[in-house]
Amino acid sequence: MARINDDYRKLQAGYLFPEIGKRTREFQAANPAAELIRLGIGDITLPLVPAVVEALREAASEMGRDDGVHGYGDEQGYAFLREAICEHDYAARGVAIAPEDVFVSDGSKQDSGNIQEIFGRACRVVVTDPSYPVYVDTNVMAGRSGEATPSGHYEGIDYLAATAENGFCPGPPEHAADLAYLCSPNNPTGAVASRENLEAWVAWARASDAILIFDAAYDAFIQDDALPHSIYEIEGAKECAIEMRSFSKRAGFTGVRCAYTVGPGGLVGTDAAGVAVSIRDLWSRRHATKFNGTPYVIQRAAAAVFGEAGKQQTAEQVAYYMQNARRIREALGAAGFDVFGGEHAPYIWMRTPEGLSSWDFFDQLLAKTSVIGTPGSGFGPAGEGYFRLSAFNSHANVDLAIERIRGSFAA
Ligand code: MLT
Repeated sequence: MARINDDYRKLQAGYLFPEIGKRTREFQAANPAAELIRLGIGDITLPLVPAVVEALREAASEMGRDDGVHGYGDEQGYAFLREAICEHDYAARGVAIAPEDVFVSDGSKQDSGNIQEIFGRACRVVVTDPSYPVYVDTNVMAGRSGEATPSGHYEGIDYLAATAENGFCPGPPEHAADLAYLCSPNNPTGAVASRENLEAWVAWARASDAILIFDAAYDAFIQDDALPHSIYEIEGAKECAIEMRSFSKRAGFTGVRCAYTVGPGGLVGTDAAGVAVSIRDLWSRRHATKFNGTPYVIQRAAAAVFGEAGKQQTAEQVAYYMQNARRIREALGAAGFDVFGGEHAPYIWMRTPEGLSSWDFFDQLLAKTSVIGTPGSGFGPAGEGYFRLSAFNSHANVDLAIERIRGSFAA
């Protein structure tokens, strides 16, 4: 019989969102009249903007013509999209990124889960706690951890607690490590890293020869232009950081699928003999071996996000969601709930009321209000006692959810 990968057996629970889906389905089956309000998984609710729909239509028509056939594309992504990314996401903020350093993919979840493959099994990994579960789980699957401890941490992985005291943006550890995952604006806490915080991380990474894996999937939600959108806005980051960005939340692509990873040419790791090896070349090798490229029509749609109409229309959608974030933060805050985030991110991070555990609050919230959120403990042990509400829904549903929460729980 085939021997399985025993590292998978170390995983403590099923993936967070399927568990939420299961509990929600069970509740709906038992309460068919309940009108659910979904503020759980950060999934968009607004339709694709007209500029994107038009680009999809045009690209599909082109593919149906003799002179418009597109088969396998460049695994790394079409030049038109990589160039647009460099111009609009980077040059516009004073950062020079070369198109050959950009790798277009079908999602940041995949990229942030797959990136660890190009690093050695012995690499020491640092995560903030709580964090997007993909970072920890994929390293556990790859054998970079020991067993789970009673606290819910995995042996061999370094956790830095993100707490109210440090603004949910811990600084680097005291010791050296090899890989550190950072996410700003943060999922799940909604915190955004300051320039000083990122400078400290870059300085640490350079001093320890570590690589930062910077997940900027939510950068479009930053409201203050002075805050860094990219780790490459920090001097020296091109020599120590990989960055990931996504079209999912900024342009409603969760069901369309397009993202990208940047691996600057100057970024290196070392092999067993201590010889420097280009990270970009390794990622390119992996990408070309395991991926045949994001579909042409999807890349055309992503490029439309950078056109004048696309920029304006997607900015309006982001603003719509951010109005929801503000409503939740202000209304629950005014009612005495302890709320964080939601200023530069589509997530509100709240302390669970009445001393409930994260999952108990999930269950009670569902039972009393039919509102679905995400238990903070699903993102790591330091998330226990917290709860995440997402701003992806209609204004009417968000207002209704606020009213139901205020009416059902004591702050
Ligand atoms: C979330 O709700 O945390 C995100 O939507 C999950 C994801 O982007 O994969």
